[in-house]
Amino acid sequence: AVIKADGLAAGKGVVVAQTPDEAMDTITAFMEGGALGAPVKKLLIEEYLEGPEVSLLALVDGETVVPLLPACDHKRIGDGDTGPNTGGMGAYAPTNRLSPADIRDLTKRIFVAAIKRMARKDAAFSGILYAGLMLTKHGPKVIEFNCRFGDPEVQVILPLLRTDLLDLFVALNERRLHEQTLEWDPGAAVGVVLASEGYPGPYETGRPISGLDAVGDEGLVFHAGTRAGGDGGPVTAGGRVLTVVGRGATLAAARDQAYAAADRISFPGHQLRRDIGLVEVGE
Ligand code: GLY
Repeated sequence: AVIKADGLAAGKGVVVAQTPDEAMDTITAFMEGGALGAPVKKLLIEEYLEGPEVSLLALVDGETVVPLLPACDHKRIGDGDTGPNTGGMGAYAPTNRLSPADIRDLTKRIFVAAIKRMARKDAAFSGILYAGLMLTKHGPKVIEFNCRFGDPEVQVILPLLRTDLLDLFVALNERRLHEQTLEWDPGAAVGVVLASEGYPGPYETGRPISGLDAVGDEGLVFHAGTRAGGDGGPVTAGGRVLTVVGRGATLAAARDQAYAAADRISFPGHQLRRDIGLVEVGE
């Protein structure tokens, strides 16, 4: 089971218990106050889920739901999904982990169900919905649900969109999404995050970033944690500093582009994963 203490706990409020005894000990430790300093009044106990993760995002105008290409995030800091969790070290789209039939089915079961319920409560929703799914052996389960784009998923989804995004947003705002057909590039996109030394732990900022001008047409560079330094040049200003996106006819080609572009950029101590999208190359 997964035991979660209600409220903010600086990352110490969630325990993945491997046995019933460990679950009971965790609950006792939280409720008696030893584990987090003060006794926890409310706990959330959830089933432990295992499996690959997929992010499915959709545009919603209150009635119509239009799913976007499914994408995969890479949350751990290290290659092969090792080390601590981060805000996301890279992503790729589309993923073959969901078929078009899966996407239709999940759209109905998750997004349409959610917006119908919200409309019945007089809180019709329009905007972006994000479902973080885990593909378990008992089928896909929602483990995260947001009303926003995903980061870094959106950096690899939108570059593949051929339909004008502004037209889509206007249609969404005017409840005309049912008139829109989304067109996508047939290829793939891979995004690699360049992170500060030490991230997701403590890190220094203000380190000069070089090579941004050397990225040509092979890559799109999205700034996340940067600012102008003393001499006006870019310096680091966050844990996740840049996302560098490559596109290609195949996932392998998109990876090559992304890493060619990412390797032109550097700052002292920068970290990046070398295996973004690798698990699906050749699948
Ligand atoms: N990539 C995870 C998120 O945006 O929540």
